[in-house]
Amino acid sequence: MSNTSDTRLVDLDEDGVDRAFRADVLAGLKQAQKAVPARWFYDERGSQLFEDITQVEEYYPTRAETEILRSRGGEFAEMIGAGRAVVEFGSGSSVKTPLLLSAIEPGAYVPLDISGEFLRAAAADLSAKFPGLPVHPVEADFTKRVDLPDAVVDMPKLGFFPGSTIGNMVPRTATDLLRSMRETLGDEALLLIGMDLIKSRKVLEAAYDDAAGVTADFNLNLLTRINRELGGDIPVQSFRHEARWSDTFARIEMHLVATEDVQFTVSGERFTMAAGESIHTENSHKFGKRSGNMLLLAGHWTPVARWTDEQERFSLVLAKATIKRSAP
Ligand code: AVI
Repeated sequence: MSNTSDTRLVDLDEDGVDRAFRADVLAGLKQAQKAVPARWFYDERGSQLFEDITQVEEYYPTRAETEILRSRGGEFAEMIGAGRAVVEFGSGSSVKTPLLLSAIEPGAYVPLDISGEFLRAAAADLSAKFPGLPVHPVEADFTKRVDLPDAVVDMPKLGFFPGSTIGNMVPRTATDLLRSMRETLGDEALLLIGMDLIKSRKVLEAAYDDAAGVTADFNLNLLTRINRELGGDIPVQSFRHEARWSDTFARIEMHLVATEDVQFTVSGERFTMAAGESIHTENSHKFGKRSGNMLLLAGHWTPVARWTDEQERFSLVLAKATIKRSAP
């Protein structure tokens, strides 16, 4: 997924306000536990801050996943084979995607993304790096089944979903997404998916609350965006970033906690929050080997291989499309 929503096909009202953003924010602020979906982090500044997060010392997932892609190319090639159409869910990473493509001799590359602008930029970048490779970008919402271009319909497919973005979804949504991917890719498909691993609370909480405050800025930027785009007057300075590990849900939760009683308006509606009350802004689920496998199985994928980085912080799992048959 491109980590931005700014340039997506958006449904704007007569004042130029993104209707879906307003609806999500207003509904979320009316809940007992206030919440705003994490997809709204990614305006231009949010996308830049996310890039910055991937460079901070404490945020290990990007480095760990890249390490696996760099070191296990030979094994990917052996298990995946040549000639597959690589279908990437999201417009691709300039580092990770080339590592995969150079390891496995793909037959074509199909990036799928809802944001046309990011998609075209990533496709152009890839075409320049792999001049002989057919590249077929598809602008689509991949949370639903997508019709792939005719040129790749008869090729075996490899879905690629790196970054542990699956972890940003609650299990039910993650399962729905995996099933849609299974529908998009067909019976002969493989899926290579990044899944971040459960580890010590200390390491996890630091990864989502770095000392330089980049993740805090990323989280707080959501309030700035609400104020700018939805005519809000949220006192941003009266909120602090918090990253909490929930052992029950095996996830890091990010919250924006009010440091004093506050009142504010968004799109003409009034809200109050008591000191200590929070807005829940993101879940980042972490997986064990078995819980990761269970999620894939529920999503109609059967795990066949799994790689981790040297320090066992992050996994890349290869799964094959589950074939429906009667079973006990
Ligand atoms: C995009 N996603 C996989 C990141 C994660 O680790 O859950 C988003 C993120 N949020 C805070 N830091 C990074």
